[in-house]
This record gives sequence, C-alpha cells and structure tokens, in this order.
Amino acid sequence: MDKQERLQKVIAQSGVTSRRKAEKLIEEGKVKVNGKVVSELGVKVSANDNIEVNNIPLEKEESVYYMLYKPRGVISSVKDDKGRKVVLDFLPAIEQRVYPIGRLDYDTSGIILLTNDGEFAQLLMHPSHEIDKVYVTKVKGIPTKEALKQLKKGVQVDGDKLKAVNIQILSTDRTKNTAIIELTLHQGKNRQVRRMFENINYPVMKLKRERYSFLTLEGLQPGEFRELTRHEVSQLKQVAAKSK
Ligand code: URA
Repeated sequence: MDKQERLQKVIAQSGVTSRRKAEKLIEEGKVKVNGKVVSELGVKVSANDNIEVNNIPLEKEESVYYMLYKPRGVISSVKDDKGRKVVLDFLPAIEQRVYPIGRLDYDTSGIILLTNDGEFAQLLMHPSHEIDKVYVTKVKGIPTKEALKQLKKGVQVDGDKLKAVNIQILSTDRTKNTAIIELTLHQGKNRQVRRMFENINYPVMKLKRERYSFLTLEGLQPGEFRELTRHEVSQLKQVAAKSK
C-alpha cells in the first residue's frame, strides 16, 4: 500500500507554502483531494491522490537541500527588484523552487541553507528549536567583559530581548582599536548581531556566519555551494526536534 501522509504535510513538502499556511488553506476550503474539497485537518493522502490548492494541481517535487557560502553584497532572497545579486544566482539551474531558510543581511557573509521543503524550513526556523548559529564579527572598539556579559544576559532593543548563548573575544587589535568576537545565537531576529553590538556601542564592521548547528563552511569558498547529504538533513531534523 502507498504511504499515507497528512494533507498539510504533503502540501508543505511540495514547496507551495508552509505547513501552517497549508492548514489555513485547508480550513478555508481551498484544498481539494480527488476533486472534493477537504476542509478539516488530519486527512491523510497518498502519492496516488490528486491534490489541488486554489484549483492548481500540486506538482510533486523532489525535496532538495543546499548550503551556500553567501558572499557579502548578496541579498538573501529569490529575486531582487533592483537587480542586485541574490542567493539563488549561486545555485545551478534546477527545476525545484528553492528558497533560503532565514536570512543573512546584504553585508553578512557565511552559511545559509536553501530548500524547497517548507516543513523542513519551518522546523529549523521555529524560535523554540534553539539551533546554534555561530557568528564571527569584527567590531569597532574593544568590548569590556562587562559589555559582553550584558549581551549574554540579553539586551532590550526595539521591543526584542536579544541574547547570545555564548560569547568570547577571539583577538584584539589595540592599534586599530578593533576586536574579533565569536558568538552563538539561538534566536534569529532581524539584524540581531548588529543590533546587539550597536546597543553596547561597539558597532559591527564585518559579520560572518561560520556555523549552522553542526554544519560549517569547510571546503567552500564564498559563492560556492554543496548539497546536504541525506544524513545531514536527518541530523538537522533530529537536532531541531530534540530542542523543541
Ligand atoms: N545578525 C545580523 O545582524 N545580521 C545577519 O545577517 C545575521 C545575524
């Protein structure tokens, strides 16, 4: 017999939308299975069923997972109105519609994951899942121990409590009055590292994400990508599920 999966999961995996939005679409009566509207959650479907979302048949896409070493000066989105380079420009032409999991700022370099698996993306981005994101930053000034302690305790910025899980100075340059700092975040708020250091008056000059959970940039140069192995994908799912 064919494997049965929940309807919202199948929709999310097809890359159309997230699982939560799929649930909403189902409840709104916008999803059909074999020509009939299904508006309650929990219905299971198999590969043989015909699913339509907003009257458009779902194409069953194979899930793909990439990691990219995003260079600086690149937008973390699928396209840009102003014609600037986007992360997708660095991937090969593939039929799947992939998108980045979360964002790195235009001027931030480092590791970013891309996929067409909506459920996987949601799982990793959910704030309660506490995935380690390790950044290395160069800041103006040499922060005191006290200042760094503040970032570990958490600083209030524009209504967000922004906090580092770990933070340490890697090196300092007294002549140039700069410091290189490594910090680990679990949160993924907009411009989080920059806002945290602005708050303690040591502005970020350079920022790179060096690690995402157990994944590092080893073997990649800026602008290069690789596919994640199946083992890495299932490990990431486990990491996210464990820290729920
Ligand atoms: N924090 C930032 O400030 N920018 C990023 O791109 C990522 C984390």
